[in-house]
Amino acid sequence: MASIRIQDLVKRFENGVEAVQGVTLEVADGEFVVLVGPSGCGKSTTLRMVAGLEEASAGDIFIGGKRVNDVEPGKRDIAMVFQNYALYPHMTVRQNMSFGLKMRHVSKAEIQQRVNDAAAILSIESLLERRPRELSGGQRQRVAVGRAIVRKPAAYLFDEPLSNLDAKLRLQMRKELAQIHQQLKTTTLYVTHDQVEAMTLGQRIVVMNEGIIQQVATPMKLYQEPANRFVATFIGSPAMNILPGKILENGQQFQTRNSRTTYPIRMPANQAGPASPALLGFRPEHLTLDASHPQIGAIEVDLVERLGDASLVYFKLEDQNCTARLPGNAACQQGERLSLHLPKDKWHLFSAQSPHEVVSRGCSAGK
Ligand SMILES: Nc1ncnc2c1ncn2[C@@H]1O[C@H](COP(=O)(O)OP(=O)(O)OP(=O)(O)O)[C@@H](O)[C@H]1O
Ligand SMILES: [Mg+2]
Repeated sequence: MASIRIQDLVKRFENGVEAVQGVTLEVADGEFVVLVGPSGCGKSTTLRMVAGLEEASAGDIFIGGKRVNDVEPGKRDIAMVFQNYALYPHMTVRQNMSFGLKMRHVSKAEIQQRVNDAAAILSIESLLERRPRELSGGQRQRVAVGRAIVRKPAAYLFDEPLSNLDAKLRLQMRKELAQIHQQLKTTTLYVTHDQVEAMTLGQRIVVMNEGIIQQVATPMKLYQEPANRFVATFIGSPAMNILPGKILENGQQFQTRNSRTTYPIRMPANQAGPASPALLGFRPEHLTLDASHPQIGAIEVDLVERLGDASLVYFKLEDQNCTARLPGNAACQQGERLSLHLPKDKWHLFSAQSPHEVVSRGCSAGK
């Protein structure tokens, strides 16, 4: 096993696209790190550079402390599962899974054992003698994962390995991957754009946007203490609500732009000063009908979605589309007026200027 470290990594494609713009991160020996971000943010490109399938335009890549920029992919001792699982079409599933081991001169008995074990973990035992074209997309994806786990590489690189599975299989495979990691403790860098997958699998999560790392933290820290507006609205579903406005001179109140409603906030002691534009953020699940908390607004319900365990209530506040996640049986319906409340430690305040860093938040104000 080995750590993975990338330092100031840049990828500039020939067409001028700078897909990765100076990424630095470390996956410790045995750690499971998830790289998450929206489509096109540079996740696959980063992973492909670690694998050696794409040359870095600048920066360094270390695996097990050794710089591997100039080491060819086959010699980097990593196993990668691709977004579009490239299986060998003329080989059976068993041959596909055995191939890497055969090339490394592992004994026949050992190969048989490892392939059978992996097939059992992935529930593909009955498919071992088929060829890829005789498999569904989800089955092929599991074979691709199987081909990686039979190897015992220094590190695994996964690029959206579950993207073609149905919801149930995805959940099952997610658990399997977590268990495989618990058993083998192989250093893993895992790419996904699915935040639930990121939150459940990652010991640490790297949030990326437009080729730049936004925050690296544990799942709970990302949720509770997002570093900026992007992370705040990317992690959590439905997304965090955001209202534009300003921090008043006294540094104790936030005033919304349109209705000039004020909300009590507390800036760090030395930050009172001229009024400054800012954004107030609060999560749908923290809104409540409980009037013992400060009111955030009297709103008109645009739409209610009943999910069973929760009801999503859509409304406008200060011309912004907002959402409240209320209990499943909450008394509310379209067109009705509701008084919504927010506990006083559940807000985040972002600077009005990109990258909209957090300037204060409710949960830390009391500390
Ligand atoms: N070979 C290439 N030549 C030019 N531009 C490319 C190339 N490959 C990727 N890009 C661009 O680089 C950016 C990052 O692509 P990348 O595949 O890393 O995104 P991603 O985060 O993996 O997205 P997704 O979630 O959709 O897989 C995109 O804007 C993409 O269009
Ligand atoms: Mg990708």
